[in-house]
Amino acid sequence: MVLHDAPPLVPFPASVQLGQGSVPLRSVRLSGDPDAVALLRSDLESLPGGAPLDDEGTTRVALTVDPRTGSAEGYALDAADDGIRITGHDAAGLYYGTRTLLQLLRRESGGAGSGFWSVPEVRIEDAPRFGYRGVMLDVARHFFGVADVKRWIDRAVGLKYNHLHLHLTDDQGWRIQIEAWPQLTGAGSGGDATGSGGFYTKDDLREIVAYAAARHLTVVPEIDLPGHTHAIGLGYPDLVEEPTITEANVTEAAALHQPLPVHGEHYAGWGVGHSSVKIHDERTYDLIRDVLLEVAALTPGPYLHIGGDECLGTSAADFALFFARAGRLAAATGKTPLAWHEAGAVEDLPAGMIGQYWGSAEPQDDHAAHARRFVERGGALILSPSDRAYLDMKPRPDHPRGLAWAGIVPLRTSYDWDPETLLDGVPASAILGIEAPLWTESVTTIAEADSLAFPRIAAQAEIGWSAQNGSERSWESFRARVARLIPAWEASGIAVDRAAIDDPSATPPDGAVAPQTTATAPSNEETA
Ligand code: ACM
Repeated sequence: MVLHDAPPLVPFPASVQLGQGSVPLRSVRLSGDPDAVALLRSDLESLPGGAPLDDEGTTRVALTVDPRTGSAEGYALDAADDGIRITGHDAAGLYYGTRTLLQLLRRESGGAGSGFWSVPEVRIEDAPRFGYRGVMLDVARHFFGVADVKRWIDRAVGLKYNHLHLHLTDDQGWRIQIEAWPQLTGAGSGGDATGSGGFYTKDDLREIVAYAAARHLTVVPEIDLPGHTHAIGLGYPDLVEEPTITEANVTEAAALHQPLPVHGEHYAGWGVGHSSVKIHDERTYDLIRDVLLEVAALTPGPYLHIGGDECLGTSAADFALFFARAGRLAAATGKTPLAWHEAGAVEDLPAGMIGQYWGSAEPQDDHAAHARRFVERGGALILSPSDRAYLDMKPRPDHPRGLAWAGIVPLRTSYDWDPETLLDGVPASAILGIEAPLWTESVTTIAEADSLAFPRIAAQAEIGWSAQNGSERSWESFRARVARLIPAWEASGIAVDRAAIDDPSATPPDGAVAPQTTATAPSNEETA
């Protein structure tokens, strides 16, 4: 018995009507929109055991776009005995319909080892709650090459995320080629003892952008300013201040057996708040103007993130002076500038600038006030409460990766928040969406990233997509659906932290029966 018999769909669709039977995929004929067909073909071909594709196939899967169907990014999916039809409101909606189809697949035993895939008879109508559903990958602390970023994109789009925020620069590394300032990717793109240095050439970033765009994912580049800029000083020492080292920096470095930052030398520690570009040197703004123009030209999306977090050694007046200018330079590229919530403290920001809230789910007054300032100036907010949405917080104390400065964040805690009630005084209309960041101080490979992200990345996906009062928007349902998705994730090479499901702190308090977590493959028997 399982607690819930809803199909294992995450994020859960707006409406699901299950029929009685199932539709076998013994031989499949794909038709319709060529881009959607090509992507689904490749996904079906890489399933364990394969799904036989044949132009004469008996089960027809028709993929079309019809703007009369639902709303933006929405789709309808019908699986019945005469075949499967997925109709997207737009190309993104059609793609998301095919992601739902993949989650519906169940392996049937055909006898004598002749297994095949099937989907239940079902009618689904679906559309997202928020237009911005992001994941962030910190490629500065540890660099991830193009192939790894594509793997991260695959994970994100399978859960219907539509933005990838790339944290391209930080104290530990500068990861994007800038033609006007070639020394940025000299020593500044080095790595630490794990050998994780590197940078994206412009062609590399174009390749990432194109791969993402084909999957309806927009890349949001971040150049973190004016702090988190120690790496600039390896190529251009005159443009960066000497590190500001606080007692907290010294205590933390000693506790973690890490070095303190030294001006002009590679920094591999985890300390924050010690670096700043020179705010009163005009050449700083020449560099920033060139960097923002080159990065904006590489990324067709509407947003350009300019950081603004943790400028702990910078006076409020200098921060305001700098950010007003940086905001104007970002806006002059034609993009909508985006910044972490601290920048809300600055009065003179471009109208319509977007803020990204990363404070706690119980917001401190000043954090909430800074976030609200973006809305008051006609902008909007992306919400990433660090003790809910940060994928790099440890899901349990004994997890080998992750940090805990925002707390231990078990799966159940990460699932437990509502973007519309997070910040008082912010109307729902001012919430662009949510983002789940993964910082990489303790992460060097995608497998390690997976072990922190899965399944919590699915929780944030559901918060971003599914209605708060949706029929299955409950911890018990979510947990049961995730448990049933784990085998498929693992079969596709994702290193899931299974303990997250079994974590006693995540046990429903009402003594409800725990769902099955050890299924070897999603199958019909499970719900029998
Ligand atoms: C942040 O976590 N410093 C945005």
